[in-house]
Amino acid sequence: MEQINASINFDKRLYSQDITASKAHAAMLVKQKIISAKDGNEIKGGLDQIFNEIENGSFEFKTTLEDIHMNIESRLKEIIGDAAGKLHTARSRNDQVATDFKLWVRQELDQLDSALKMLQETFINQAEDHASTILPGFTHLQSAQPVTLGHHLLAYVEMIGRDRGRIKDCRRRLNENPLGSGALAGTSFPIDRDATTIALGFDQPTSNSLDAVSDRDFALEYLSLASILSVHLSRLAEEIVVWASSPFSFINLPDSFSTGSSMLPQKRNPDAAELIRAKTGRVIGNLTSLLITMKGLPLAYSKDMQEDKESVFETADTLALTVKAMTGMFGEITYNIDKMLAMAKNANSNAIDLADWLVKELDKPFREAHSISGKLVKLAEKQNISLENLSLTDMRRIEPAINEGVFNVLNINTALNARSSFGATAPKNVRKACTQARRKYLK
Ligand code: ARG
Repeated sequence: MEQINASINFDKRLYSQDITASKAHAAMLVKQKIISAKDGNEIKGGLDQIFNEIENGSFEFKTTLEDIHMNIESRLKEIIGDAAGKLHTARSRNDQVATDFKLWVRQELDQLDSALKMLQETFINQAEDHASTILPGFTHLQSAQPVTLGHHLLAYVEMIGRDRGRIKDCRRRLNENPLGSGALAGTSFPIDRDATTIALGFDQPTSNSLDAVSDRDFALEYLSLASILSVHLSRLAEEIVVWASSPFSFINLPDSFSTGSSMLPQKRNPDAAELIRAKTGRVIGNLTSLLITMKGLPLAYSKDMQEDKESVFETADTLALTVKAMTGMFGEITYNIDKMLAMAKNANSNAIDLADWLVKELDKPFREAHSISGKLVKLAEKQNISLENLSLTDMRRIEPAINEGVFNVLNINTALNARSSFGATAPKNVRKACTQARRKYLK
């Protein structure tokens, strides 16, 4: 029973929140004259001492005492004697654990938000440096149209921006105080829930005691946003693996974030990126795990809910590491601009610019322009040259109305500069988008 029942091995991570919430509760009991000021002072002193003992490693955690709440209360009794027993007046471990856990997740959300802000800053800095660097843009992992590297990096700034938006939503919904809900039905003591709400930085007390002690939506929302964030990191990690592979060679990974092969001396493996990609599995697994834990629970508290913590802790540890690794790795990546440009030019990705030119200059319907452009690509491929190197004579054999002007739009830089619709990839758009992203995300 002790082995299956005890949670102290993992919920000791809630010690700081547990002590903070207990101090707020005790102060409220004093203010409401439910316990005496003398008892309140002793409780506060004892809790402060316990906090220090845990911080300096001298506190002895015992599995016989099941969880963090009872470990702390039992030590409080050793320190201050019978007054310790008054702390639990008008409180249950059910509202206590819900409060502690919310405080923990809230702090985690704030830390994650700061870490993501730094990651966005890394991308924005690089996007500014590479506002006009040409990168082949892919669809189906086939070279489709040239884009700017800056534009590509800013795509991740948007994704992370939405992740941060979800963090903010989660924090806002989480921030209601369950303390004072008791075991499930509230209490007959004249407590002041607004007082603990203010002391603990919550926005308001929860409205329904049954819901308050059995709600773990905040943990599920955290795990959901963590999963989506991890999917973003994983997609980026996948791009790093592809970009660093020898057929692409778009980037050089810093030595500090790659490893050699024990057998093949020439290898430089993108292990950090691969592990970021792989750890997404755990994060999604933890969301699935808690969803399934919760799905069959009647109101109100059931001990099943003790299993909520490890999923959340593991996810938090994983994300702290993956976000840090991604930020560190990206800070030191260098780009092989020549390789990216060569691939962008190679793929006849200016076929669309040719088609658009036929529409604009020769008034062709787009479908016909598309077909002419396709024929010219085939002709160029037959001659083993790229589209812009076809002679005007050859082009005119397929479309007699084509003139010299076409060569302007076949130039990759001209083509790129022309794509300046809102949200598009042109260098001047990217520069503007960087300024806007700084204002929106980094202030
Ligand atoms: N360790 C428990 C948990 O994490 C605390 C709540 C226990 N409540 C109870 N009625 N047994 O869920």
